[in-house]
Order: sequence, then structure tokens, then C-alpha cells
Amino acid sequence: MEVKLAIFYYSSTGTNYQLAQWAEAAAKEAGAEVRVRKVKELAPEEAIAQNPAWHQHYQATKDVPEAELEDLEWADGYIFSVPTRFGNVPAQVKQFIDTAGGLWAEGKLVDKVVSAMTSAQNPHGGQEATILNLYTTMFHWGSIIVGPGYTDPVTFAAGGNPYGISVSVDQDGNMVEDVEAAVKHQAKRTVEVTKKIVTG
Ligand SMILES: Cc1cc2nc3c(=O)[nH]c(=O)nc-3n(C[C@H](O)[C@H](O)[C@H](O)COP(=O)(O)O)c2cc1C
Repeated sequence: MEVKLAIFYYSSTGTNYQLAQWAEAAAKEAGAEVRVRKVKELAPEEAIAQNPAWHQHYQATKDVPEAELEDLEWADGYIFSVPTRFGNVPAQVKQFIDTAGGLWAEGKLVDKVVSAMTSAQNPHGGQEATILNLYTTMFHWGSIIVGPGYTDPVTFAAGGNPYGISVSVDQDGNMVEDVEAAVKHQAKRTVEVTKKIVTG
């Protein structure tokens, strides 16, 4: 059966957009109907303009649809791809999450399947913490959390984060580890578990 997957990402300089696109490709191949949704930028234009990479990515992704509460309601499962901000999710993503109180109160977020990915400048700069901090909220939602674990050897090759695939970026914003296969495995696994949840 076809399940509905929403991939929510926030990205200043493109890394998490790329992770989201790899996840999209794999989820579609696994038979999901997929929406990729950009979490709304909240930083002032002046701040964005001061960082050429941020400005370039902001302009290049202007046409990507923004995440709406309706996407949370629509999807059977979610993948979040968000960069580390001091070991936590970006404020933009927290703001989006915090608008979901109404859906939460109506019980509409219960049993949504959730998986998360991240990036950070440093391998030990908070990648695991960021994903776990996001998952903390998901427990409040009654979500079914699906990490990659070590369900496929590709996780080891990508740095071995069982909570969610994570990647380091160098000073120029390039990904250090090759995580494409691991991201695709995580997305496929999320779709497969979502199918099991939806069909009971
Ligand atoms: C305000 C801020 C806080 C950050 N905090 C961390 C951090 O705690 N650890 C780390 O390794 N990198 C940190 N970074 C680097 C970002 O995680 C990195 O730029 C991001 O993962 C790149 O993803 P993107 O290209 O999708 O924006 C921080 C960056 C900013 C702007």
C-alpha cells in the first residue's frame, strides 16, 4: 500500500536540503507518496545577507513549499532533517513544532512514525544530542520513533549513528562522510515501518 511521508527540513547552507532530497528519492522508490517541506526561515534578511552561502541557498530554495500544519496531519510518517544548533534543533524548527499544539490536543499526532537526521560542523558537536532532543518532543506527540539502528551495514560506513544518520560538514560546507546510502536506507526503513503501522 502507498503511505504518506512528509520530509520536513531546515537548512541554512544546503546540507539538510540534500539529505532531504536523498530521503525523498528513497522513500518514493519504497512506494511512499512524499511531500518535501521547508521549515520557514525566521532569521532577518540582514542576517542571511551577511553569509554568502546562506544567502545563496535561501534564494535557490525560495520555491520549495513551506511546512504547514496540514502536512503534519496529512502524513502517516515524518522524516526531519535539521542542522545542529548548539546541540539542539534550530529555532525555526522548534517554532514550527510549537505551532502543533492544536493538533497534539486533538490527538492527531498519535502514532505518526518519525525518524530524524542531522548535520553539524564537528563529528562530536552535538549530532546525537540534536536528534535525541527532537525525539523528546516526539514522545510527547505519541509518535513511533524509528531510528536506523544498525539494521544495515551502510550505517557503519556513515559514521555509525543509530539514532539517525548524521554528517559532518567542513569549513566550506562540504559533507565529510559519504552518507547518501545510509540516508536512503533510513528513509526506506521509515517507509516500511510506516506501512506496518498503517496496515496494523
Ligand atoms: C548558531 C549555530 C550554532 C551551531 N552549533 C553547532 C554545534 O553545536 N556543533 C556543531 O558541530 N556545529 C554547529 N553549527 C554548525 C551547523 O550545524 C552546520 O553549519 C550545519 O549542520 C550545516 O547544515 P546546513 O547546510 O543544512 O545548514 C552551528 C551553526 C550555527 C549557525
